[in-house]
Amino acid sequence: MSENQKTFYITTPIYYPSGNMTIGHTYTTVAADTMTRFKKMQGYDTYFLTGTDEHGQKIEKKAAEAGVTPIEYVDKIVAETQDLWKLMDIQYDDFIRTSQERHVKIVQKIFRQFYEQGDIYKAEYEGMYCTPCESFWTPTQLIEKDGEKVCPDCGRPCQPMKEESYFFKMSKYQDWLIDYIETHPDFIQPAKRANEMLTNFLRPGLQDLCVSRTSVKWGVPVDFDEKHTVYVWIDALSNYITALGYGTDHDELFRKYWPADIHLVGKEIVRFHTIYWPIMLHALGLPLPKQVFGHGWLLFGADRMSKSKGNVVYPGPIVARYGVDALRYYLMREMPFGSDGNYTNESFLIRMNADLANDLGNLVSRTVAMIEKYFGGELPAWTNAVDPETDTPLKEHCAALPALVDEQMDKLQFSQALAEIWKVIGECNKYIDVTQPWVLGKDPEKKDRLANVMLTLAECVRFAAVLIGPFMPSTPARIFAQLGVTNENLKSWDSLKSFGILPAGTKVQKGEALFPRIDVNKELEALAGGKEEKKEAKAEEKQQKKEQKAEKKHDEPEFPAEIAIDDFFKCKIQVARVLACEKVEKSSKLLKFRLGLGKDGERTVVSGIQKWYEPEPLVGTQVAVITNLKPAKLAGIESQGMILSAMDDSGNLRLVSVGEGVEDGAIIG
Ligand code: MSP
Repeated sequence: MSENQKTFYITTPIYYPSGNMTIGHTYTTVAADTMTRFKKMQGYDTYFLTGTDEHGQKIEKKAAEAGVTPIEYVDKIVAETQDLWKLMDIQYDDFIRTSQERHVKIVQKIFRQFYEQGDIYKAEYEGMYCTPCESFWTPTQLIEKDGEKVCPDCGRPCQPMKEESYFFKMSKYQDWLIDYIETHPDFIQPAKRANEMLTNFLRPGLQDLCVSRTSVKWGVPVDFDEKHTVYVWIDALSNYITALGYGTDHDELFRKYWPADIHLVGKEIVRFHTIYWPIMLHALGLPLPKQVFGHGWLLFGADRMSKSKGNVVYPGPIVARYGVDALRYYLMREMPFGSDGNYTNESFLIRMNADLANDLGNLVSRTVAMIEKYFGGELPAWTNAVDPETDTPLKEHCAALPALVDEQMDKLQFSQALAEIWKVIGECNKYIDVTQPWVLGKDPEKKDRLANVMLTLAECVRFAAVLIGPFMPSTPARIFAQLGVTNENLKSWDSLKSFGILPAGTKVQKGEALFPRIDVNKELEALAGGKEEKKEAKAEEKQQKKEQKAEKKHDEPEFPAEIAIDDFFKCKIQVARVLACEKVEKSSKLLKFRLGLGKDGERTVVSGIQKWYEPEPLVGTQVAVITNLKPAKLAGIESQGMILSAMDDSGNLRLVSVGEGVEDGAIIG
């Protein structure tokens, strides 16, 4: 690597490992990977950082629900995330986890520095908090929805919050930041997002930011006041420098790569990256990233995908069926970077057929097949039989293509960059129609002309193969194998400076279709699940609804203010011995009990406590059961009673028990 090689540092947001990564997270990560590969191909010394944002209330809650510790919870999702990035052919240089010591230590150091230099002070905080967004809001910032005050970002309810906190004096840096944004038009992209920040947040005046919490334990402890943890956004944003070793004795990467060239983020978190983050960096005396690019959302219908809305798409099944390059292509091609766009299986399948199977796939297979047919599979040499009218425009267009793609990539216009490549591919297909090689092939005198036509096409295919590499990492090798290109120098960005350098004698070899044509209707059916699968899914859904209904009794009991003693005695509550207990097949919630009631005999009861109890250890223990409840069918099993339980502090159900020496069947009352 040469000393003065230009560096390029790009980051994705660090994602919340609260659930598995979706096609939405994949979208940003593929974009960052594509950009990195493009810059690397151009000779940049690149560094690509991604990772996970693991602290905060949301993860704390999720882990408690799953009955595991936060670190156990995130470890599993992080491993799955890394597997997914491998599957998506993502080549990151580092994967930072905010739970790692290398990060925690430096966040503490940064926080202390802010405090010591007077940017942070301690005070009482009163406001509203949105847990899903980990965001504070003043009451006036909340919006009204269905008569309720909700988070302006996600529309979900906020909780009132009052606690002693540390505050960051954001207001102190407001004028500086306004000036910075106004004088650095490239800093926030697309430009409309800069206007949003100025108009909606900066010019109306910044509030001081609450940057610590006492109620969240799963976080970076403030090392000079341990009952506080650092606010997750201060913690998370720091990742972009802690990963490079900032603040340590080994800060070579930081000195080499900071400031970042691009922070890629979704538009909903531009605010954090263009207000809090620049202020933090400025307070640390560090230069700002060169650009924060807020891209649009991949929508599903009118909604951003979210688990709670149940419209989540995961990349795994799509990749398994159609290959990673097809999905990467679609993600980068379908919508202009910066705008929202809709994901539908149909638009994906249509693009696969039109762009990949037809345009690109056919061009490659036709070109190779014709060289085999007319030249015995060996590239001929260039001849004088040029037709300026047909050859020159295509050659010139193709020679100019690297610059056209570069221009779009410079603006992160992935879709436009691909459109430029596909224009040339389209032109090639037209060139075949116009030059009619099958006619030339019949006339031995036209062999010279035919040679040039074949060479022009082969060379255009070579250009396309090199340029699609960053988007579709494994497709170029498949094209080069068919074109017979083995020399690495002919596969490089630099080799695109010259058009027409494929050597005569290169042996082409027809291979499998790059992207087979697919039957869209059949595939749509398969992606939605076959008929049988659909039936099963419906049954499952019905079952889940029933279980939820059963569970609701625990979640939202609605009690009358008082009842008569007779009402209570209507319930026959008895002590029962667990004779047998097993998981109900196909249910993740239900356990089936065989209960012994002494002289009152035995009965079967189904209970939704699988999440909290293994069946075996329960056998032989005593539980409390309502035995005169009207029987109900759960998962197809008649349940003849209800086992009593209560929720503990961490949200786990605990079975009600009686002391020693109580007979099976004894009445509780
Ligand atoms: N942890 C914060 C980011 C901290 S960065 C210092 C966070 N995490 S997240 O898991 O919610 O990821 C949000 C990001 O994932 C978005 O900003 C975007 O990059 C990506 N996307 C997730 N779903 C998406 C879509 N449906 N469409 C486009 N991008 C999406 O916010």
